[in-house]
Amino acid sequence: MEEGKDSTVLSRTSQSRVLPQRLLQLLVLFLVLCFAFFVVSVYTIRRFGVQSFVPAIRPTLQPCIREERNNLDSWIKPPSNLMHKMSDKELLWRASFMPRIKNYPFKRIPKIAFMFLTKGPLPLAPLWERFFKGHEGLYSIYFHSLPSFQADFPSSSVFYKRQIPSQVAEWGKMSMCDAERRLLANALLDISNEWFVLLSESCIPLYNFSIIYNYIKRSKYSFLGAFDDPGPHGRGRYSEKMLPEVNITQWRKGSQWFEINRKLALYIVEDMKFYPKFAEFCRPACYVDEHYFPTMLTIQAGKLLANRSITWVDWSRGGAHPATFGGADITEEFMKRIFEGHNCLYNDQPSSYCFLFARKFAPSALEPLFLLAPKFLGF
Ligand SMILES: *[C@@H]1O[C@H](CO)[C@@H](O)[C@H](O)[C@H]1NC(C)=O
Ligand SMILES: *[C@@H]1O[C@H](CO)[C@@H](O)[C@H](O)[C@H]1NC(C)=O
Ligand SMILES: *[C@@H]1O[C@H](CO)[C@@H](O)[C@H](O)[C@H]1NC(C)=O
Repeated sequence: MEEGKDSTVLSRTSQSRVLPQRLLQLLVLFLVLCFAFFVVSVYTIRRFGVQSFVPAIRPTLQPCIREERNNLDSWIKPPSNLMHKMSDKELLWRASFMPRIKNYPFKRIPKIAFMFLTKGPLPLAPLWERFFKGHEGLYSIYFHSLPSFQADFPSSSVFYKRQIPSQVAEWGKMSMCDAERRLLANALLDISNEWFVLLSESCIPLYNFSIIYNYIKRSKYSFLGAFDDPGPHGRGRYSEKMLPEVNITQWRKGSQWFEINRKLALYIVEDMKFYPKFAEFCRPACYVDEHYFPTMLTIQAGKLLANRSITWVDWSRGGAHPATFGGADITEEFMKRIFEGHNCLYNDQPSSYCFLFARKFAPSALEPLFLLAPKFLGF
């Protein structure tokens, strides 16, 4: 036993003597390699200058280094990637930048920002694709969906890479207004966007692009529904806790689907005065998305509002939600009916052209709409 013990001890010590020797050899080899590398490096640097070493590293670093903003181009070019990493707070702050010189020192072609507030897919996208075709440079598109929604539009689509960072938005809650502000703020980052239209996935355009563009461009007012409803669903939702920012005579109601200009969009993203009051004192049964923008904009810029919406809906079926039209509803008679019997003011003159968009249309309406669009919608 003793002998055996000794022999194992012996073999261990001889092993541990062998190991450091191997390590030492490896270390020497490593040092020799290092030295060789050093010599080669010094030689190449001397010979070709540092330059020849750097390009190998540069391409991987470049995307991180943002180009310096040393010419006007970089200020007026729209962001190339809508999926930025800004928080809402950072985004709203950035979007609130406004030039104080009114004349642009470059040829600015004003665009309409079409902002789609959706749950996920855009079933009527093919109709919109046809609507936008040939009008590049006069519009930009943004869509806000459930954060989990993965869009898979082909690169040929006008919706390709137009999704913005989103959060869950609930009907009638402040998260809905947050989503609308997020859309506005993202659209404001493109300095050429002059008008901002909020749409849903169930909206369709009622005219061709040129007509809609000119109707909006030539209007003196922005189209936002804002009326004083004395009933329980209007003034009945007002709370005196909103004083002194909002009093009862200023309280307004209107549909959330708006068209506003850049000035009003800025009022909305920069607002810190009314937001906390509405967030705290307009909760269900006060539906904040029907009151916040109409009231706030009436107080700040009432004279700039047409006080009517340009999105047609059908409330004739009654209930809390407007009618949704499916494939079977879309007939020639129906298409005519959408355009009939309207009276409104356009630039203070009576007009029968009151609506540019309509809702709500189910996915099954796409096919008949697509067929009837050339005859009834002009595209
Ligand atoms: C748009 O519609 C109007 C009226 O229907 C028509 O006169 C005009 O040519 C159309 N524009 C385009 C670009 O199709
Ligand atoms: C509400 O505010 C407006 C504007 O500040 C003011 O003219 C009006 O008298 C106020 N009305 C009430 C009922 O306090
Ligand atoms: C819209 O309403 C506001 C006040 O609520 C008013 O000042 C403005 O003149 C109205 N707009 C039009 C076009 O009548």
